Amino acid sequence: MGKKIFSGVQPTGNLHLGNYLGAIKNFVDLNNDPDNDCIFCVVDLHAITVKQDPKELKNNIRETVATFIASGIDPKKSIIFNQSGVAAHSEGAWILSCVARMGWLNRMTQFKEKAGKDKEKASVGLYSYPVLMAADILLYDATHVPVGDDQKQHLELCRDIAQKFNNDFDQDNFLQVPEPLIQKEFSRIMSLKDGSKKMSKSELSDLSRINLTDDRDAIENKIKKAKTDPLPMPSSVEELNERLEARNLLGIYSSLNNSTLQSTVDNFSGKNFSEFKNQLSDLLVKKIEPISLEIKKLLNDRPYLDKILLEGVEKANSIASKKIDRIKEILGF
Ligand code: TYM
Repeated sequence: MGKKIFSGVQPTGNLHLGNYLGAIKNFVDLNNDPDNDCIFCVVDLHAITVKQDPKELKNNIRETVATFIASGIDPKKSIIFNQSGVAAHSEGAWILSCVARMGWLNRMTQFKEKAGKDKEKASVGLYSYPVLMAADILLYDATHVPVGDDQKQHLELCRDIAQKFNNDFDQDNFLQVPEPLIQKEFSRIMSLKDGSKKMSKSELSDLSRINLTDDRDAIENKIKKAKTDPLPMPSSVEELNERLEARNLLGIYSSLNNSTLQSTVDNFSGKNFSEFKNQLSDLLVKKIEPISLEIKKLLNDRPYLDKILLEGVEKANSIASKKIDRIKEILGF
């Protein structure tokens, strides 16, 4: 049976290899299976949980759409839209924030990381952000949600919210409890500068990540400068438990090459690290450069990107508005 897929990406600029390997590459595979109904959302309401420049945000929304398409998502097969275009997301988030419990949200590790030491100054939106994410998913009766490993806890919260709503209002399976789709092996791509930190758009140094808009020179330079250790290439996967940077680079290679970590380790065992880095660079250029060139081309055609969003909003709205109407009825509004 086909799956109902929903996922979202924040339009905060600099979509990177972590977003691609952790999420977008999966979106493309799911989009290519004709049995699936896929919805991919540019989550602009999530983006404003931290300060955004309005002009940049507008550009970043288009750039995220361009990245989806350049990576291989077909807007004729999947719905691509921006969250703020569909009012039900904000309405749903409010309603579900009355279902979610403080204790549940207090456990969210991403809030703790993002708010840092000064959490008194974080926006209320940053704190309640996983509730908005739950609304996104539940409005479309999504059965499966492809995400990177860092979103796992938010998905568990979404499942708890759905179950509590169904119980509280005696509505068996009214809100579909979604399954996460998280890759087994390469669901967390790490920084090129520190193998213990995830690759992220918020890290200051651009050398820590491969952006999907990087050209050949940038990719080669970043891989050359990527942190490694003085040891030779590993001869077993177990050895990598202690060698985080080597593990990450071999993982990136394997994921791009659709091979297992084991076979990549076998393939490079006994060779020089520099030789591995050259091959990794070549593979990255082969996979990322076409995406980067296509993004740049698409960004020159704003009317096309805007039309995709407009059509997507219309389709998404026709689904979400019906669901929110039912939710309101159930609540007694
Ligand atoms: P966001 O915009 O931070 O990231 C988008 C997707 O990329 C994945 N990702 C990674 N995967 C592997 N390694 C990394 N270093 C890495 N960095 C990011 C994320 O796991 C995510 O899948 N809250 C979400 C967006 C969202 C959403 C939703 C997702 C809003 N509503 C509903 C699914 C369903 C977020 O901020 O992702």
